Amino acid sequence: MPAASARTLFVTTALPYANGPFHIGHIMEYIQGDIWVRFQRMQGNSVHFVCADDTHGAPIMLKAESEGVSPESLIAGVAESHRRDWARYLISFDTTHTTHSAENVELAQSIFRALNRRGLIATRTIAQFYDPIKGMFLPDRYIKGTCPKCGAKDQFGDACEVCGSTYAPTDLIDPYSTLTGAPPELRESEHLFFRLSAPEVVDYLKRWTTAPAPRQTLQPEVFNKVQEWLGDEGKLLADWDISRDAPYFGIEIPDQPPGAPKKYFYVWLDAPIGYLAALKHHFDSGAARALGETRSFDAFLDDPAVEQFHFIGKDIVYFHTLFWPAMLHFSGRKTPTNVFVHGFITFSGEKMSKSRGTGISPQRYMDLGLDPEWLRYYIAAKLNARVEDLDFGPDDFVARVNSDLIGKYVNIASRAATFVTRHFGGALGTPSESPADRESRFETAQREAEAARANYEAREFGKVLRDAMRIADRINEAFDAAQPWNLAKDVGQRDRLQTICTQALEGFQLLTVMLAPVLPQVASRVARELFGLSRDFVWSDASKAPTRVNAFRHLMTRVDPKQMDALLDLQPDATLAAATPPSQGATTEAAAESTQERSATGTASTQTRSEITIDEFGRIDLRIARIVSAEAVEGADKLVKLTLDIGEDAPRTVFAGIKSAYPPAALVGRLTPMVANLAPRKMRFGVSEGMVLAASGAGPGIYLLAPDAGAQPGMRVK
Ligand code: MSP
Ligand code: ZN
Repeated sequence: MPAASARTLFVTTALPYANGPFHIGHIMEYIQGDIWVRFQRMQGNSVHFVCADDTHGAPIMLKAESEGVSPESLIAGVAESHRRDWARYLISFDTTHTTHSAENVELAQSIFRALNRRGLIATRTIAQFYDPIKGMFLPDRYIKGTCPKCGAKDQFGDACEVCGSTYAPTDLIDPYSTLTGAPPELRESEHLFFRLSAPEVVDYLKRWTTAPAPRQTLQPEVFNKVQEWLGDEGKLLADWDISRDAPYFGIEIPDQPPGAPKKYFYVWLDAPIGYLAALKHHFDSGAARALGETRSFDAFLDDPAVEQFHFIGKDIVYFHTLFWPAMLHFSGRKTPTNVFVHGFITFSGEKMSKSRGTGISPQRYMDLGLDPEWLRYYIAAKLNARVEDLDFGPDDFVARVNSDLIGKYVNIASRAATFVTRHFGGALGTPSESPADRESRFETAQREAEAARANYEAREFGKVLRDAMRIADRINEAFDAAQPWNLAKDVGQRDRLQTICTQALEGFQLLTVMLAPVLPQVASRVARELFGLSRDFVWSDASKAPTRVNAFRHLMTRVDPKQMDALLDLQPDATLAAATPPSQGATTEAAAESTQERSATGTASTQTRSEITIDEFGRIDLRIARIVSAEAVEGADKLVKLTLDIGEDAPRTVFAGIKSAYPPAALVGRLTPMVANLAPRKMRFGVSEGMVLAASGAGPGIYLLAPDAGAQPGMRVK
């Protein structure tokens, strides 16, 4: 039961699109939200932490179609994968739900009606590209064409990747639909707009974003961005197009004229309403009551004392600081207390990219048996309250987990508890410490717990962990300086031995409470198994003295760098296969064209070939190449024609048999090693001037090699 003075919080993370499994960016956001929520619960606050899948929109509809399943069955499969990963990463949502739900339909329609009654919905006819073959209006991302500024082909409908200019899809030269290749037609259609430009809306948003109370204060970076958007006097926000024409997978817009074609809410209209739908489900299912909440959903949501926070990434600030509070306020509802914005996770300094295969897979991480608390610790160590990107570095990960988490923290318990069990039957005590020293040690612990509390509250998790490691260093130094292994040999030093072990273990309890939001599993085991409590730690345990310990049982292992290699797909197998010439299964140039050849020798890659000398190896001129362009080769369904920059005056042309694994567009921009001194070879389609390296084994799958971040075209590989 929460204490009378406790706070009541409604907390969400962004609702993940239901179009595939989580990537590491999702997991990082859940870890951030979960740590904060677990910390709040340890304070005795009452927290309702909910999430849902964001299931609507054209991409999900089209993905389901291309997989030959209904959107409902696609999102059901994804939901299962999401639930599994939330559990595996110890994300403690109280309720998870979906935007494709009765609650969301009801709430979205009722909010829309309320906005309409306020006169904030406008109808306007707009001209939009339509794919006549597919029979649907095309979202901008499904239109490509030639850049109107620089003439580059195959550019997206909103911006040119070559010259960087931005434009409307209707400005493209020779536009085509990426769904069917058909030239799109401009067609008119009636759309509904939320009048964000209405003066009362702009006024309200200015007030909301400058709310004075500390807990409502936006992060400085967010505040500045929002001020920019809200513009100077006179400059108005653009109205927001909230409708989409059929076919669309979404929630139908109510009260449309009879006989007119169906219209649906744009996915971003119903997505944030999904926060409320998930909360409603949380109440209807009895989960809120189980947490001690006796009010109704409506009474809870309306209560000004209930604080509402949304954890989100930096790419969706516009939706959460403008659309969302405006929608809520003008439909007569309470607005969020604040949004907490984080930066993106990058990988060894580069943007994670699915198509380039960089980054780490959170599913593979778990499947390989890596410990979720390692990742929670590592990410927490790098998080702060700013909108800063955070880099995942594999070596850094191994170092932090092994030397800090295990070497400094876990180590304390394993060393000190062993002495206490062996020499004192588990009893703790500080017989050789003066009351004054003891008092001052407790004051220090209280101060440290208070600093950690304030840092957690402010989402400065990195600071909490840095302080924790400083405390761990201090404990380890004091323990070593007392040389307990020598004290243990001398019966006259028993009191001293018990005292220094107890001091270490009291420090360990403080540290465990401090780390509990990050390491919930380890902390629970320390509370129950080591200190024999019948419950998990709460925050006030930080400065309490445990009275006994049980025999130490192994808490956490070190990361084996080999596990990291496996996670990053750097197993020896892959490199070995890549080193074999094309006729032996590695997939390069024309040789891979012949299926017979591949299958006949497909297993050769598992055997090492006859020895060569270093000089023989040195005759191979391996260079880093940048793939400047990649295109399919007409009449050869396995080949991709690559144009490669290796720092020479003219680019090289190489034909590679990797089309089954990589759509040409996905290769552009990638770095890969190439054999630069392979004799040119005349082929049916042109001359191939080298070979790129890829791994393959007996089964299907071809994996192009990639250098670590920092490599430049033309660099020598040796
Ligand atoms: N469905 C919308 C959110 C609707 S909220 C009402 C969406 N989904 S998403 O799946 O694309 O992203 C979910 C969250 O993950 C967002 O907060 C997004 O910022 C975050 N991240 C996506 N890539 C990320 C990283 N590389 N790093 C950290 N967070 C990232 O947007
Ligand atoms: Zn251009």
